Amino acid sequence: MNDFAGALGHTLKEMYNRAADCDSGLLAPVAIDRGLPLLQNLGYPQSLLKLLPRTSFERAFPLANPLPKITAVAPGTLLDLGCGTGLDIFFCAHLMPEIVHLIGIDASAGLLSEGRERLKNFPEQARKITLIEADLLQLDNLNLPGCDLILMNGSFNLVYDKKNFLRKLANLLTGKGTVLIYDFLLNGSLPPGFSDEIDNWLWNIGGALSAKSLREIVAAAGLELVSVKELEKIEPVSRCEIVIEKCDSAATGLSSTLI
Ligand SMILES: C[S@@+](CC[C@H](N)C(=O)[O-])C[C@H]1O[C@@H](n2cnc3c(N)ncnc32)[C@H](O)[C@@H]1O
Repeated sequence: MNDFAGALGHTLKEMYNRAADCDSGLLAPVAIDRGLPLLQNLGYPQSLLKLLPRTSFERAFPLANPLPKITAVAPGTLLDLGCGTGLDIFFCAHLMPEIVHLIGIDASAGLLSEGRERLKNFPEQARKITLIEADLLQLDNLNLPGCDLILMNGSFNLVYDKKNFLRKLANLLTGKGTVLIYDFLLNGSLPPGFSDEIDNWLWNIGGALSAKSLREIVAAAGLELVSVKELEKIEPVSRCEIVIEKCDSAATGLSSTLI
């Protein structure tokens, strides 16, 4: 791991642990959606949101609502990398009882501990969910089982060496496995030197790739970029749903406005 990647990992861990400690929410002074209004605006179903008290949503940092896509993929096993408090896997366990095992991994002990507290009231879901505190860059050391779907809802752009990381994900996927990413892609260029500053990576922009670069590193990892769906344009980036599959699977053809 180079110095920048190490410093980035350290800063991210500190920031998200601070978020877990801060009652009024990390983004309280910033005039953007957060907490329950954020989840409502992203389209998380009311039937799921009402399962939990409003305060449990303060430390949710999703980039999109992944539930419709996960329901369509219908995985038997799901790995959520950068799961935060594990809200997405908690909702998946409710919505899709056919999922047998859901694993969430995050570097923030504080966020995971909030997730574990939540599960105490939901023993049926808790039986299927494993929350692990670990660095995503050390996945090799975790002896993880193969999985049908890997979700990264807001954590892919926080990974410095994406090419190497995607290779590791390819090894974790079973059969016709899917990687589902919600993050920003570049649709223009960032100011010169922007990505050299760690602070610019913390909110997922400094590490954003163009769709072309993404397609290249996905192919280099032996995977296939199946679709890129633009959810919102915020120049010079677009918030996107990115679907990646194993190369030997029968891809249904590339659909994208960005590639
Ligand atoms: C934007 S948040 C998304 C959290 C979660 N998916 C959600 O929807 O609430 C990014 C998450 O990735 C985690 N993360 C970032 N880099 C990580 C790393 N190298 N190892 C483990 N977790 C990491 C952070 O701790 C944080 O919880």
